[in-house]
Parts: sequence; C-alpha cells; structure tokens
Amino acid sequence: MSVAAADIIIDCVKNKPNALLAFATGNTPLLTYKLLAEKVKEQQIDFSKCFCIGLDEWVGVPPNVKGSCHYDLHEHIFKPLDIKQSQIYLFDGLSADILSECKKMNELVREHGGVDCLLAGIGVNGHIGFNEPGVDPSLEAHDQLLHPTTLASGQNYFKEVTKLEKGLTLGLSQAMNAKKFLIVANGKSKADIIKKTVQGEVTNEVPASYIQMCENGIVIIDKEAASELTK
Ligand code: GLP
Repeated sequence: MSVAAADIIIDCVKNKPNALLAFATGNTPLLTYKLLAEKVKEQQIDFSKCFCIGLDEWVGVPPNVKGSCHYDLHEHIFKPLDIKQSQIYLFDGLSADILSECKKMNELVREHGGVDCLLAGIGVNGHIGFNEPGVDPSLEAHDQLLHPTTLASGQNYFKEVTKLEKGLTLGLSQAMNAKKFLIVANGKSKADIIKKTVQGEVTNEVPASYIQMCENGIVIIDKEAASELTK
C-alpha cells in the first residue's frame, strides 16, 4: 500500500514538477511518507518546484503541538523531503477568521488549477479529511463540527488530552476534482468502512464513497482492509 502510494506521488511530480500536492496526517500514510523520502533521495527527484497543502487541521490546536497537522506534516513529510516554507500552505487552526482561512485555501487551489495529487486516509466513519458523515459534497474548504468517533480517535494523536471540537478541511469537491485522488487504508479496523466506501451506495453518510464517482480515484488497501470485500 505504502509503496504504491509513494510511487504515484513520485510519478505525479515527475510528470509535473510544479504539481500541487495535498497530504493527510494520521497513522496510515506514515510509511508512505518514509518511503517517499527514501525514493526521492535515491532517484533524485526534484520536489523543489512543487507546492504542498495540508488536507485538514484541528481548530484551536497550536502548530507546535505534536498531533496538530502542522507539526505532523512537517515532521513526517516536509522536513524529510526538504520542502521549504515557501512551498507550503496549511490551514491555520488558530485563525480568528475561519472564513478567510478557507477562502485563502480555495484561492490557492484555484490558482494552481486544482489539486494534482491528494493523498487521504479514511476515518472509521468514512470521513475524508474532516468531511464528516452528512457533509455537503459540493463544498470546498470549510470548517466542520467533528463527529464523536473522530473526537475519540483524535485523542490518540496527542500526548495530552486535547480540546477538540471542529476541524478545517479541504472539501470533497476539491478531492473529487483532483487529478489523482488517493485513499489509503490498512488493517482490520478499516475493513467495514472500506466495504461501504467501494461497494456500498454513494452517499454523504459515507463521505469516502464519492470516490466511486471519480475517474481519477484510487483506493489502495492491504489484505486486512480488503477482508470484507465480496466483489
Ligand atoms: C484523522 C485525520 C484524517 C485521517 C484520518 C484517518 O482524523 N483528520 O486526515 O486521514 O483521521 O487517520 P488514521 O490514518 O490514523 O486512521
């Protein structure tokens, strides 16, 4: 799963050095990021012209706190890949003006002609970024009240109990319009939601299920995450 995802990101940058890349946090893509950094060094791929954005961010969590998307993306991908600050734009979870924060992100995505490659994990409730069940799939970047399962699993990323309530996220329309929309999932805990995502009805109750409508959508899973598929 991780090799495949890293290779797709590398191909994207080889074909378009100034690609706009969107990255998720969470545990699932960690090995992808490690392999990506190794492969980029080995193959001497030039990432100096690409631009990187974060898929989402926890509202109210400072960027220097481990568990914030800022901190984790810098640690796991931007530092290892030597991506400069001028090549990065992340949602500011501390912004007092959430609307303008989302507007900035939308303008940036538009200026680049859309996202070239978006790598997402999937929540056990089917969320993509912080597009939670019930989300309007036509939305671009927006803030979202977090679902109880997201609030509970979210605590696992932090060293101390952290107040979580809302998230900032790219919208499903931006993911669906990405030239490559990748979802990675591994482990038994994702088997049920992967079945709903790829074999179930396309519904905003399972936000990830919209990937079925994307010609450029790719779901990459391991055997355990695939264990409930019947087709
Ligand atoms: C988190 C993040 C998502 C992530 C998802 C799955 O809440 N906001 O961007 O993809 O949940 O995380 P994990 O890969 O740790 O299962």
